[in-house]
Amino acid sequence: MIHARGLSRTFAKKRGRQSSEVKAVAGVDLDVEAGEIVGFLGPNGAGKTTTMRMLTTLLAPTAGTATVAGCDLLTDPVGVRRRIGYVSQAGSTAPENRAGEELVSHARLYGVSTADATARGKQLFAELDLDGLWERQPKAMSGGQRRRLDIAMGLVHVPGLVFLDEPTTGLDPQARANLWEHIEALRRDRGTTVFLTTHYLDEADALCDRVLVIDKGSIVASGTPDELKSSVGGDLLTVTSTRAAEVAGRMAGLPGAETARVDGDRVTCRVPAGGAALVALLRDLDAAGIEVTGVESRRPSLDDVFLTVTGRSLRDGEHPAVPEPAAEATR
Ligand SMILES: Nc1ncnc2c1ncn2[C@@H]1O[C@H](COP(=O)(O)OP(=O)(O)OP(=O)(O)O)[C@@H](O)[C@H]1O
Ligand SMILES: [Mg+2]
Repeated sequence: MIHARGLSRTFAKKRGRQSSEVKAVAGVDLDVEAGEIVGFLGPNGAGKTTTMRMLTTLLAPTAGTATVAGCDLLTDPVGVRRRIGYVSQAGSTAPENRAGEELVSHARLYGVSTADATARGKQLFAELDLDGLWERQPKAMSGGQRRRLDIAMGLVHVPGLVFLDEPTTGLDPQARANLWEHIEALRRDRGTTVFLTTHYLDEADALCDRVLVIDKGSIVASGTPDELKSSVGGDLLTVTSTRAAEVAGRMAGLPGAETARVDGDRVTCRVPAGGAALVALLRDLDAAGIEVTGVESRRPSLDDVFLTVTGRSLRDGEHPAVPEPAAEATR
C-alpha cells in the first residue's frame, strides 16, 4: 500500500545572515501492506509529520521515490490524493463553517454524492460521539470534539488508506479507546490500511500490527510490538530502598545482570530472568539486613525499546506535541 525508498527532505534554516540545512527526513525506506495498521513512533522533531506530508503529496521530497495506494508519488500525485485520507497534526477544519456542511462538501470533492456523504457523515458523527454537533461551528467545539471532527473529515470519503498524525493527542481516555475501536473496525469491516503517528506507546502496543521507530530522520527500528520488546532482551528489575547504592552493588552480582542504574532511591537493572533473580536478590538483601520498600520485575515496554535504540526515553505524556489552535490563529 505504501512503498517508499530513500525518501528525504531537507529544509533551509536561516539564522540572521547564516543559512544552514535541517535534514528532517534522511533516506527513509518503508513498506506498509494492504490492511495493516502501522504505527510511526519517534521523539519530537524526529521527522514523522514531514514523512507523512511527503507521502500525502503535501510536501515535495528532496530525494527518493514512493508509491502510495498504487500511484507514483511524483508522477501521479492526484491519483494518490484521490485514494487516501489524511488527518493532519494541526487539524484542518475551518472554524466558521458548520461541521456537517464541511464534512459533506469535503466528501463531494472526492465525487461522493450529497446523499451518500450525509449518510456516511451522520454515521461517523454517531460513532465518534459527535451526536448533536452537526450544525455546530468548529470554533464552538471543545478541543477533543474538534479533533474527532478532523478524524471524521479524513474518513468521510471512505479511503482505502488513511494517514493519521497524532489522532488521539488531546482526547480523553474514553474518546481514545473509542477511536481505537473505530480504527480496528475500519480495518475489519472495510480492509482499510492505517498509518498513524502517536506519542502514546500503549496505543502503538495495543493497536498496531507493526511499529516503525524514527529518530533524527532515519528509521532506527521496525517490527511487531512483541518483536521489538523481545529484542531488548531480559526483564527489568526495580528495587526501591534508602540504601540504593548497596542494593545496586548486590544487583550487579546477579547472574547475567547488566550494570545497575541508580535514580534517587530506585535501582533498575536488566537481568535474563526477572522472577528468579528477584527471589535470589530479596534473600540476599534480607540476609544483609537491607530493607526495601518496593520491588518489581517487568517485561520491557516499547519505551524500553526506545531507550535502547535512541538512548532517550519517550515516556507516555512527555511533551506530546499538542496540535496548535491553528484554525483560530491563522484564518
Ligand atoms: N517547514 C519547515 N521548515 C523548516 N524546518 C522544518 C519544517 N518542518 C519541519 N521542520 C523541521 O524538521 C524536523 C522534523 O519535523 P517533524 O515535524 O517532521 O517532526 P515530528 O516527528 O512530526 O515531531 P512531533 O512529534 O513534534 O510532531 C524538525 O527539526 C523540524 O523543526
Ligand atoms: Mg509531528
